[in-house]
Parts: sequence; structure tokens; C-alpha cells
Amino acid sequence: PTFLKVKANKLPNPFFVGMAVKANQLDSGSKYDAILKNEFSSISAEYEMKMNPISTASGVYNWAAADKIVAYGNANGINVHGHALVWHVAVPSWLTNFSGTDAEFTAEVKKYITDVVTHYAGKVKSWDVVNEAVDDNSVNLRNTVFLQRMGPNYIKDCFKWARDAANAAGDKNLLLFYNDYATSTNIPKQNKMFSIIDDLKASNLIDGVGFQMHNTYLSPTKTQIETDINRAVAKGLKIHVSELDIQVNPANDISSFTNERRLAQKEKYKEIVKIYNALPAANKYALTVWGFKDNESWIPYSTDLNHTGNDWPLLYDSNFALKSAHTGFLEGL
Ligand code: XIL
Repeated sequence: PTFLKVKANKLPNPFFVGMAVKANQLDSGSKYDAILKNEFSSISAEYEMKMNPISTASGVYNWAAADKIVAYGNANGINVHGHALVWHVAVPSWLTNFSGTDAEFTAEVKKYITDVVTHYAGKVKSWDVVNEAVDDNSVNLRNTVFLQRMGPNYIKDCFKWARDAANAAGDKNLLLFYNDYATSTNIPKQNKMFSIIDDLKASNLIDGVGFQMHNTYLSPTKTQIETDINRAVAKGLKIHVSELDIQVNPANDISSFTNERRLAQKEKYKEIVKIYNALPAANKYALTVWGFKDNESWIPYSTDLNHTGNDWPLLYDSNFALKSAHTGFLEGL
């Protein structure tokens, strides 16, 4: 078979093909390990590089799983994308329930960002500094503990602390990303995201935008995706399609994976890869798929997504067999 990264590497303007991983998949000799080394040139941690698993108490860190992921990438010539320093869903309870003042809370966040960026300086190529900061139903910032405790400048502060930590550690090339979802279809949200990005860009604090792309076989349309991404291209930013998966059963109207949906999914994967591949070289970075096997995807029955049924959103089936989605990805390259 043709492997994804092999084909992507031969393009006139190549880019990384990424996979979301968990530390326990990386033991050598595992099927995940073999597929990773053959097919993928970048990794993101699906869970273990978020604040909740790393920060067990103020100034106390559990690096084990995150270190394993980063070391795996470094040892195997695989790019490592850091995901994510600040995300409202992955706040450790000690910080959620922090009883100190707002200034002390802010100091804890600054210390966390500084310590993590320093720990991985030179080992992680890029970080999602802030993830999902825009509200879904308004043009406001999401009402998170970070907004409540630190005020509306918290996003800029977090990027500044990340940049300062990288520079102090001698890593002048760390790429800082803002990452969010559903910005191609939710235009008020898209506009708000780009106002945040403009503000960061004006202070030279941002290098790229992560578009999660937890898409469905119907949505967003090609034009919607292109319009969204092109706004970031026009600002000279790198583009990361950061968490790609394509649901085929968002309305829970099928009980098994039908041929019709299989082909629709294949076409959607192809469409997105083609959109990405057509970007100018300077704007390319990575296109990352959010998990290996359908049966291990976060999508089926996800309460975050109000997904009420089973689904088959990824490139490999539950037996690691290549799906038509994988063929679609290859055809887009
Ligand atoms: C999800 C992971 O897939 C799950 O395994 C984990 O339990 C929760 O997080 N947006 C993001 C990702 O930025 O970090 C989320 O990943 C999916 C939604």
C-alpha cells in the first residue's frame, strides 16, 4: 500500500500528516507503533498533554505520559505538536477550586505555561496555547474559569508567557497556535476568533491557527472551509487542520456503516486533504487525524457533541483495516 506520509512527503509543498496518540499505544511492536512509523509524520497527544493530567497540584507535575509521547516523536523523527496549554475542559480540580485571589490564580496559570513550555523546549515544535476560547452562541469569549479569574486579556497573556518561556529556554522557533472548532459554519464565532487572532498578531504572538474539523459527511461545505482557512492564510499564519474526523452518523439514522456513507466519507476526506494541499507552502504545517480506529474514536455517543449513536469517523476500522476514508485521504494528496 501507499503510506500517507510517503505520498505527502513527495508533494511539491509537503506537510506533516498527523495522528492523535495515547502514551499506551507507543510501546514498540504494537500495531499503533507500526502504523505511526509508516504513515504519520506528526503526533498530538489526544489527552495526556493537557493541564489536567500534567498538573496534579500547584507546582507539581506528572510528566510521565507526556514525556513518553514527546520522546517517542523525537526518537522516531516524528514532529510533536503540543495540545493544549489552556483548555476549559481540562482544568485540574485544584485550579478550578482555587481559593486564592485572582492575582494568585493568574500567577498559577503563568507558572504552569512557563514550566510546561520550558520542560519541552526544543522537543515540541508547536503548542496550542489556548483552545476553544470563543463561545458557541454569542460573539463573546467563552465564560470559563480563565475569563472569570483573569479577565478578557487572558488569551494574550497566555501567548506572551508561552513565547517568553520559549525564548528564555533558547527555542526561538516554537510555533504558537490558537485552536478552535466549528468556525467554518458558525460565522459569528469565526469573526470573534479572527478578532482574537488579529489582536495576537498585532503583538507578534501567534504563528498559526488550528481548525479542529470535527466534521460530518455533509458539513461544512468546501466553500465554507476554504473561506474560513483563507482568512488565516491572508494573515500569513500557518494552518493546522488539527483534529480531523468525519462523522457518518450525526443524526443517528443508520445502525451500521452503509456503503453510501462510506463513499460520502471518502469524498469528504479527499475534499479536505485537497483544500489543505492547495494552500501556499508557507501556510502549510500539518493535517492531523483525531485517532486511529473507529471503535476508539471520541465521537460515538460523545456527550460534548450530543452524538446519540455509533459512528465510524476515522481512517481505520476496529481491526486496523484501511477504510475507503484512507483511500480518499491518499487521493487528495
Ligand atoms: C478529546 C479526546 O479525544 C478525548 O479522548 C478526551 O477525553 C477529551 O478530549 N476538542 C479538543 C480535543 O480540542 O482535545 C478533544 O479531545 C476533542 C474536542
